Amino acid sequence: MCYSICLISWMIVILCPLQKVQSHQNEWYKTATIYQVYTRSFMDSNNDGNGDLQGILEKLDYIQTLGFDTVYVQSVFKSPFLDGGFDVSDQKDINPIFGTTNDLKNLIDEIHKRGMKILIDFVPNHTSHEHEWFKKSVKREAPYTDFYVWENPKEFDSQTNEPIPPNNWIAVFTGSMWKWSDERNQFYLHQFLPVEPDLNYRNPAVREAMKGILKFWLDLDVDGFRVDAIGHLLEDIMLRDNPWIPGMVGVNNYRAQIHKFSKNQEEMYEVTDEWRLVLDEYTRKTNRSRIMAFESFDPPEFVQKHMGNETHKRLHFVLCPTIFFHRPYNASGIVDFIQTQLRVSTPSGVPSWSVGSHDMGRSGDLGGSEISLPSFMVAFLLPGVATSYYGDEISMSDQPLRPDQKSNMDAFDHLKHRTPMQWDDSTNAGFTRTRKPWLPVNPNYWAINVKRQLGEKHSQLNNCIRLIKLRRTPTILNGQLAICTPTPWLFVFQRYLHGEASIVVVVNLGTEMELISLKDCSFNLPRVMEIHTASSSSGFQIGDKFVVCDSSNLTSCPRLRPRSGLVLTSARSSESSYAVKSKHSILIFALSLVLSACYW
Ligand code: NOJ
Repeated sequence: MCYSICLISWMIVILCPLQKVQSHQNEWYKTATIYQVYTRSFMDSNNDGNGDLQGILEKLDYIQTLGFDTVYVQSVFKSPFLDGGFDVSDQKDINPIFGTTNDLKNLIDEIHKRGMKILIDFVPNHTSHEHEWFKKSVKREAPYTDFYVWENPKEFDSQTNEPIPPNNWIAVFTGSMWKWSDERNQFYLHQFLPVEPDLNYRNPAVREAMKGILKFWLDLDVDGFRVDAIGHLLEDIMLRDNPWIPGMVGVNNYRAQIHKFSKNQEEMYEVTDEWRLVLDEYTRKTNRSRIMAFESFDPPEFVQKHMGNETHKRLHFVLCPTIFFHRPYNASGIVDFIQTQLRVSTPSGVPSWSVGSHDMGRSGDLGGSEISLPSFMVAFLLPGVATSYYGDEISMSDQPLRPDQKSNMDAFDHLKHRTPMQWDDSTNAGFTRTRKPWLPVNPNYWAINVKRQLGEKHSQLNNCIRLIKLRRTPTILNGQLAICTPTPWLFVFQRYLHGEASIVVVVNLGTEMELISLKDCSFNLPRVMEIHTASSSSGFQIGDKFVVCDSSNLTSCPRLRPRSGLVLTSARSSESSYAVKSKHSILIFALSLVLSACYW
C-alpha cells in the first residue's frame, strides 16, 4: 500500500514537469515574451523611408538574440494611414509600402523556423472610409447596405435645416460620433475618427465576413491576433444618450461622458465567443494554440469577462497593461494595478504586462529615463506574458513633432511614440539610407542606439538580455509571487519555487533615496543575496553581494537611489526556508506547488 502511494506521488512529481513542457508547447502564450514592432518605423529595407516586412525579416536574428519568442507585427494592412494603420482599407491585403502577402508569409515561416510565434492585428470595430465595403454601403449596394451603423437624423435644425445627430455620443478623438453622408442621406457612426466608420455587428453578414478575415490569416499560419478596441464593438440598440460626467455637460471631449450606451454592450461577448470557436478550430487542427490578445482600458469586470472562466474561455490576455503608466505613481499605486491585473486574468486568462506601447509611449517618458530598466525588471519577472515595444530595450524616448513635421496623420499626438528605430549612429540611425524617413529620427540617436549598447557590458540592452534569460528560469516560469511595500515608494516582489533560487525585484519609484529593509516583507530570505541586475542609476553593480539588513537596526540597511531598481537572486533553497509568511506580505499569488507546476 505504502509502496503504491509512494509510486503515485513519485509519478506526480515526474508527470507534472512532463505535462508542463507539453503545455508550454501547446500553450506557448502563457509565458510569451513579445517584441512589438511598429512596422513602418522598424527597418527600411528598400530605402523609401518606411520600415517594411523585409526589414523585420532582416532583423529577426536581433529580436531572437535578445531572447524574445514572439513578434507582434503591427499595422501592416492596406490603409490610407490616417490613424497609424488602424484605418484599414483592406483587411486581407498588405499595405504595398510594407511589401506583399508573400513577404508576410516568408516572415511567418522564418519566425516559425526559429521556434518563435507571430501575432498580427485584427481591427474589428471599424474600417477605413476607403474600404470597398464602405464605398458600397454609402451607395446602399447589397450585401453591404447595412455593413455599417447608419441612422437617420434625430431631426433637422429648424433654422439651418442641418441634420441633427441621432444622439449625444462623443467620439474617442472628440466631436460627435456621427458623421453625415450627403450621398446616402444618413449619419454613420464612428467611435474613433470620422474616416473610421464603425462596422455593424448586429448584421450576421458582418460577423461572418470578419471571421473570414481571421481564417484568411490563420490559413497563412499566424499564431494569433492583437484585437483592437474591443469594448467599442457594439452600441445600445435604442441609441440612448450617454449620461454626462457632472460638471462637464456639453463639453466636446470623450472624457465628459459616461459611455454607458456607446461601449461595452453585453452582446460583444457573443461576438468574441464566435471568434474563440474559430481559434479553437485551428488550435485543434495544428495542436498549437492560436490566440487573441485584446486591447482594453475598461473597468476590470469587463476585462475579466473578455477572458471568460474555466468552463467558458474567451480571449487569452489583455495586451496593454503598461507597467508604470498607472497612477498614482507610487508603491501602492503599482500594487493596486498588479493586483487588478492578476485578478482579472483569473481564472481563465493570463496576466500580461507591457513596458511601452504605440499609444501609451515609452516608460522613461513618464517616469524619467532612470525608470526604463526597472520597468523591464517588473514586466519580465512577474508571472505571465511580457511585452516590450521596439526600442524600449535601448531606452528610446518619445520625440514630439514640430508643427511643420505634423500632418493630418497625427490624429492623437501618437506619432511621437513611433519614431524610427535607432540601430546605430549613422545617418538616420541606420533605419533608412534615404534622406528623409517618414518620421524624423530622435536627435539622441547618436548616443542611444543598438550598436553602441551591444558593445557596453552594462547597457540597458545587455541588461534586458540578462532579464529575459532570468525569465526562462523555473522560478519565473512556474514560481509563486509575493509582493511587499516596505515604504510608500519602495515596491518589492519575490518569486520563489521549491528547490530553486529565489528572485527579488526592488524598485524605488520615488524621487529620494529609500532604505531597503526587506526583513519587513517577511520573505524569509538568506542574509546575503547577489545582485543579478542593477539599473545604471541604482549605485549597485551586477555581481555585488547584497546584505539583507536587520529591521531592528535600520541604519544598517542599504539605500536605493530614486527611480532605480535591483534584481536580487539567492542560491537554490529548500521549500521550507522559502515558505512565505503572509503577515506582512500584502499579496500572495499562488497555487500549490504541484498545482502551479501542472497549470503552467
Ligand atoms: C487603438 C489603437 O491602439 C490606436 O492606435 C487607434 O487609434 C485606435 N485603437 C483606433 O483603432
